[in-house]
Amino acid sequence: MKYPKVQLSDHIYWVGTNDRKTHLFENYWPLPTGIAYNSYLIIDDKVTLIDTVSTTTMDTYLEKLKEILESRTIDYLIINHMEPDHSGAVNTIVNEYPNITIIGNNRTFPMLDGFYGIKKNLMEVDENTVLCTGQHEFHFYLTPMVHWPETMMTYESSEKILFSADAFGSYGTLNGGIFDDEVNFLFYEDEMRRYYSNIVGKYGLQVQKALDKLSALDLRMIASTHGPIWRTQIDRVLEYYKNWSTYKTEQGVVIVFGSMYGNTEKMADIIARAIAEEGIRNIKIYDVSKTHSSYIISDIWKYQGVMLGSSAYNGGIFTPMRDLLMELEHIMPKNHYLSIFGSMSWGGGGVSTLKKFAENIKWEMIGEPLEVKHGPNDKDIIALMELGRMMARRLKQNDLSIKENKHLEKI
Ligand SMILES: Cc1cc2nc3c(=O)[nH]c(=O)nc-3n(C[C@H](O)[C@H](O)[C@H](O)COP(=O)(O)O)c2cc1C
Ligand SMILES: [Fe+2]
Ligand SMILES: [Fe+2]
Repeated sequence: MKYPKVQLSDHIYWVGTNDRKTHLFENYWPLPTGIAYNSYLIIDDKVTLIDTVSTTTMDTYLEKLKEILESRTIDYLIINHMEPDHSGAVNTIVNEYPNITIIGNNRTFPMLDGFYGIKKNLMEVDENTVLCTGQHEFHFYLTPMVHWPETMMTYESSEKILFSADAFGSYGTLNGGIFDDEVNFLFYEDEMRRYYSNIVGKYGLQVQKALDKLSALDLRMIASTHGPIWRTQIDRVLEYYKNWSTYKTEQGVVIVFGSMYGNTEKMADIIARAIAEEGIRNIKIYDVSKTHSSYIISDIWKYQGVMLGSSAYNGGIFTPMRDLLMELEHIMPKNHYLSIFGSMSWGGGGVSTLKKFAENIKWEMIGEPLEVKHGPNDKDIIALMELGRMMARRLKQNDLSIKENKHLEKI
């Protein structure tokens, strides 16, 4: 035996893999603690595999599968999601098990042909299809854009397990603990929000539709394609998804500065001090040159206040801040308060670009844009402190924050 067997139930096995070598997920998002690709094997009269893994962990995956299968073959492969972090091993699986039937919906198969040239042994399912493999019954829920157009979820009704594709997934490998009660929840909560906000965050409406569809299901476990399997914290992760997809935030401020020589950074520190004096405890300051946008956007998803500051740069805004603004305008999170500030020495360009961003993103503006020449003088410092106080007071007024709304109805 090479790997300890991990079972969700008597007949359902976790056959996922850990990827600690890939630095950037989708060649963009940092993976300081790696990522897990979860796949599941259901042994019954017929053997069913749900999703596969990335090509980066193929060898481990095949070893794990073969160990559990012994001499048996795989009859069905259910593809919930075609992104290559889950479909990477499909060609290899088809070569190893040539009689396998691939299950997907009408949007899955054009991708399967386009990416891998697979056209045979396909079984198209929709929401009325029930697949029986012996004691197990599989039902399919189409959940487009959570995370791609073809994405679906599979519900196994005898064991009440939802195989949820990317939904409820997080970054981070599974380091021994596979189930939520075996891990430090807080680590995965942060990495789940970083995953959600950057990967799925743009599609809040589609996530809400998916949650509506699932609301009638009796769930004993949620088995995502990334991160822990949820079996004791199901209501909690459902509530997170409900909050995140409806842009509910907590009381707190994310201050992001773009600064070459420290003048704009100083403005950020002054503002933050005033906010703290007003009693706000969640204050994050990020240097946009040093922090990957995924961490900043994840915190913007969590906290209601956003304060963006930048120096002027060659007639425009400092480049790393411009990149962050572009990402935010693309994802378009909602329900935030915004203040803007910055520093210049001749024609400006930083704060004026931030003003255009403010018009596009349509968040509630707090205070007037504050632009200083060179470094902040005594008068500027008073104005910056006042800007911080205004943001803090607005946050304290707000009765929509999650803290006061603990008893959100269960979905
Ligand atoms: C490469 C470079 C380009 C700059 N371009 C402009 C500009 O177009 N307009 C302007 O008003 N100031 C410009 N500045 C000046 C800075 O924006 C200004 O000194 C500001 O106070 C710097 O703030 P910081 O210390 O937060 O980087 C530029 C500075 C540098 C180093
Ligand atoms: Fe995906
Ligand atoms: Fe994924």
